[in-house]
Amino acid sequence: MTSSKDIKPFSKPACASITLPGSKSITNRAMILAAVSGGELEIKNALFSRDTIIMADCLKRLGYAVDSDRDSRSINISARGQTVPNQQAELFVGNAGTAARFVTALCAANKGGEYFFDSDEAMYKRPIKGLIDALRQQGSEFEFVGKRDCFPFKMRAGGLSGGEVQIDASASSQLLSALLMASPLAEKKTKVMLSSGTVSRPFVEMTLNMMVDFGFQCKKLPDGSFEIGTKLPDTKRKAYFVEPDATAASYFAILPALTGGAILLEDFANCTLQGDLKFLDILEECGLVKIHKVTGGALAVKAEDLGDKDLKSINFSDISDTFLTLAAASAALKEKIKIEGISHTRAQETDRVSAMANELKKVCQEVSEGEDYLEISPWEDTGKALENLNGPVDIKTYADHRIAMSFGILGSADIFHTGRPWIRIEDPQCVSKTWENFFDILDSARESSEKFRIVAVDGGAAVGKSSVSKAVSKMLNLMHVDTGSHYRTLTFALIEANLADADEVKAAEFLSRIELGTSFDKANSYSARMTLGGRLVRDEDLRTKAVNERVSIFASMPAVRNFLKDYQRSMAGYAKEHGFSGLIMEGRDIGSVIFPDADVRIFLDADEQTRAQRRAKEGISDSIAARDHMDKSRKTAPLVCPQGATLIDTSNLTKDDVIARTAAEICKAI
Ligand code: DC
Repeated sequence: MTSSKDIKPFSKPACASITLPGSKSITNRAMILAAVSGGELEIKNALFSRDTIIMADCLKRLGYAVDSDRDSRSINISARGQTVPNQQAELFVGNAGTAARFVTALCAANKGGEYFFDSDEAMYKRPIKGLIDALRQQGSEFEFVGKRDCFPFKMRAGGLSGGEVQIDASASSQLLSALLMASPLAEKKTKVMLSSGTVSRPFVEMTLNMMVDFGFQCKKLPDGSFEIGTKLPDTKRKAYFVEPDATAASYFAILPALTGGAILLEDFANCTLQGDLKFLDILEECGLVKIHKVTGGALAVKAEDLGDKDLKSINFSDISDTFLTLAAASAALKEKIKIEGISHTRAQETDRVSAMANELKKVCQEVSEGEDYLEISPWEDTGKALENLNGPVDIKTYADHRIAMSFGILGSADIFHTGRPWIRIEDPQCVSKTWENFFDILDSARESSEKFRIVAVDGGAAVGKSSVSKAVSKMLNLMHVDTGSHYRTLTFALIEANLADADEVKAAEFLSRIELGTSFDKANSYSARMTLGGRLVRDEDLRTKAVNERVSIFASMPAVRNFLKDYQRSMAGYAKEHGFSGLIMEGRDIGSVIFPDADVRIFLDADEQTRAQRRAKEGISDSIAARDHMDKSRKTAPLVCPQGATLIDTSNLTKDDVIARTAAEICKAI
């Protein structure tokens, strides 16, 4: 009996960071290239899944030293020379397309070697003929156990002669990739010519880019052929970092469209090799999320104002693994969408086009299905229709990991605003094909998002604290508090009471008669404002010349600071009571004095010229330098970069960059 999993919706906007598994295609290519280059390589961030384990096992049987450590996600390969170490081996390639093709080509290069290949039955039917023909041309011989030109078979390796080699890779681009990666072991330069086109071009690009990266001589010629030199890299790579898997990223990149908030995809900023990266552009084009690159990662944020996009159809033929992600989440779209170029996915894990249509209909999506497309209508009344259903909708997964993951993401939307699960995934274990602990990661992303967090943002005047804090508060559902306005409010009241020149004793005496309160207009803003005896002082009255001149003087008085301390700390409870995901408080001493244990401490800085320019642009004349000097040099709670704070110099960054970096720190915090 297979189990099922109820998906718990996110009751708060997403706020989590995700460590993605490494890419399978890159992991297996890196292993082969390590073997071909003949050095010692540590593959970091490697994927551990059935297909990569099969590849590692084949290399071991061929005599390479392979040492894998699942916990640290690394695979060490030592090739101790150029050619395949063992002259004979029995190899099992399972149903791993990459291992089946890449290892066959590698073995063919070892003249005189004898190798027996077997596989899962499913592999008996998958294409290998194109590669076998290309290897025959160069001297290898084959004996087939069953059907001609299919697994299982015995190969007598004839080496690779090089020269002009024809290959028919129309059935799979892996046939071509296999030949390209083995060709540096040929006797002379190889020119690989395609006898007909190939599919999944981005994967061929991936192969070429990785070969160049490993130091092999290879190029694509204008006539569409490929030239591979025989000179092996002089300096062998010692380590290779596998890009996080872009298809896996698609699930968490789209999540904020359904839950709100933001998700940080760790180590994702510098990915370049994978065709599925294009999916992130599609998400932006659809107006679902906005992607920001931040140091080391990519931040996916629910799009607020990308506007209505006129996106009628999108062709997924090059990135078809990701069509399911968009199809399942199309509930969040405003317009009808046509997903095209997907007929070949009918012959994948399952008939993905029909399977998606069936399951989407179960959750009240209006879907029309064609041989090569799905057309999905917006999901306006679905919530209502679903409310009448008893219990969660059973989603069949057809042993297809991508259906399970896509609907897991859809079920994360809290459509009833009750936290009640409304999607039940059958056979959730099927995700182990590429991402064993996907549902654990989804659960911990939800738990992280539901944890209350305190964010302290400190910095001098005009470094951008307010605009950044306000934007982040809206993005992540945090209550925003500007403590500068607290000091300004008290200064305003003191001036109004003719106490502009009051000393600390007089100021304290005045404050002891004041009652602090909080005003809050959640419909229009995420900012809580301080009131004095129930009165909210207008913004413009807080920024007068008189207030600007006096505020740092009053702020340097311990009595004034103490008066505000408890009030400011009480804002955390206030934010919780009002259903926020956390509190973002900005000022000069938030991370150092008010919340020294804040979950996130950010210190913003900018050079003086930039700050003066920013203020001038806002039409504010303010002696920033003088105020900063006073704030930094006072005895009580001086302006400092708090211990453990992330310092962001905003001088050369756009506001959006600073917002994204700050949000990324918050996503990472818990
Ligand atoms: O951020 P602002 O310019 O509105 O702040 C006004 C003044 O308040 C600033 O000169 C220093 C003071 N302040 C402070 O001392 N501690 C805080 N946490 C916030 C502001």
